[in-house]
Amino acid sequence: MSINYDERIPNNVGLSADRRLQRALENWQPKFLKWWNQMGPCGFQTADVYLRTATSVDAKGWATFDYLKMPDYRWGIFLAQAVADRKIGFGEHRGEPVWQEVPGEHRGVLRRLIVTQGDTEPASVEQQRHLGRTCPSLYDLRNLFQVNVEEGRHLWAMVYLLQAYFGRDGREEAEALLERRSGSADNPRILGAFNERTPDWLSFFMFTHFTDRDGKFQLASLAESGFDPLSRTCRFMLTEEAHHLFVGETGIGRIIARSCQLMREHGTDRIGDYGGIDLAILQKYLNFHFSVSLDLFGSELSTNAANYFSTGLKGRFKESDRNDDHRLIESTYPVLRPRAGAIIESEEPALTALNESLRDAYIADCARALVRWNKGIEDSGIDFRLTLPHRGFRRAIGEFKGVYVTPEGVPVSETEWRAREEQWLPTQAEREFIGSLMTPVVEPGKFATWIAPPPRGINHQPIEMDYVKHLPTG
Ligand SMILES: [Fe+2]
Ligand SMILES: [Fe+2]
Repeated sequence: MSINYDERIPNNVGLSADRRLQRALENWQPKFLKWWNQMGPCGFQTADVYLRTATSVDAKGWATFDYLKMPDYRWGIFLAQAVADRKIGFGEHRGEPVWQEVPGEHRGVLRRLIVTQGDTEPASVEQQRHLGRTCPSLYDLRNLFQVNVEEGRHLWAMVYLLQAYFGRDGREEAEALLERRSGSADNPRILGAFNERTPDWLSFFMFTHFTDRDGKFQLASLAESGFDPLSRTCRFMLTEEAHHLFVGETGIGRIIARSCQLMREHGTDRIGDYGGIDLAILQKYLNFHFSVSLDLFGSELSTNAANYFSTGLKGRFKESDRNDDHRLIESTYPVLRPRAGAIIESEEPALTALNESLRDAYIADCARALVRWNKGIEDSGIDFRLTLPHRGFRRAIGEFKGVYVTPEGVPVSETEWRAREEQWLPTQAEREFIGSLMTPVVEPGKFATWIAPPPRGINHQPIEMDYVKHLPTG
């Protein structure tokens, strides 16, 4: 299913056959570009970046790589191929044909789901817009920009659905997506994690690892949707998202590798003086980003989540691979809840516990990556292991909101928690130290002191290729 690049908006949805929609999107396009030029990567809009562009939605060979100036990136509308005779896989409508139009009674809810997902995409571009100035290498700089242009494309993906299926409300939401701003006091982005700052590259890698991974789980659940255009949109977004997770996981893995190397060379775990990042500081950043990302899954018990599922709008992670009745009316699910100074496990109706079961799948995925990082540390003979903090640690949403839990999962008083906070989360001094390491390295093949080179380059190119050319001077 190849993509038509002859049109103003590249697409594989036959856009030219729908004049009304084409006009609506062509009207939105310059507004998007204006947003990109204002809020996209600061200072690099005229640089030539070795970017991948989607050319087809096939599982194999769906992209080409070439030098492009980012504002010339061909953002467009790419849906995964339709599955013939696809049926709704869960909820009350299980077994019925999927919907090609929005069912009237679910219109508002579905629009909200799409807007909430869509809002995260431009938000992350805004959060990351100053990072180019402090890149640890041209390889990493290019990866940052690849992530940024694809988040821009994910915005297109959601705006297409809004414009194509939600009439005037959809058009208004599409405008609002370009008006909210990450971190703004009066018009912030919708979700908390997307209003946090991403001030340095350690935060960037943590963000792409932990927060983009939330995206993977949300998109995978929406890919199960009975609303087929949403399902197809999300399925293709997931193939792009995989690269963002790769950037995060390998970025942190390379920092760890470099830290271990410096620790061995100098016989100390305090490697700041040698331009490295102490594993203890890395653990604190991990604690922060993991806990912020856990909140994105919402409350443990949620009737909204139950409704999304029962009505066929949002499935579970890997819904089709599961061996149960896919309706969950009778089922229960274990949920951890704080009660009278302890944390207990309670069996809750599986339908209302769907956020928690998605969070569980996410935590298991994070734990697998952690095993790979720890293997790297172990292989270098260093006696240190990274851990994921307890799910109740530093939560701002759900059962654990307002409850003070240590990373080990022990509920304590607020006073005790505050007294120990600096052991668990980056201190101002540590954040400043990380900031001080962020001096740009832009010589091809060279890397900052705090991160190891990757094992290989991008698209079979050498590591020392000039992945970004014509950088701004001064
Ligand atoms: Fe995205
Ligand atoms: Fe992403």
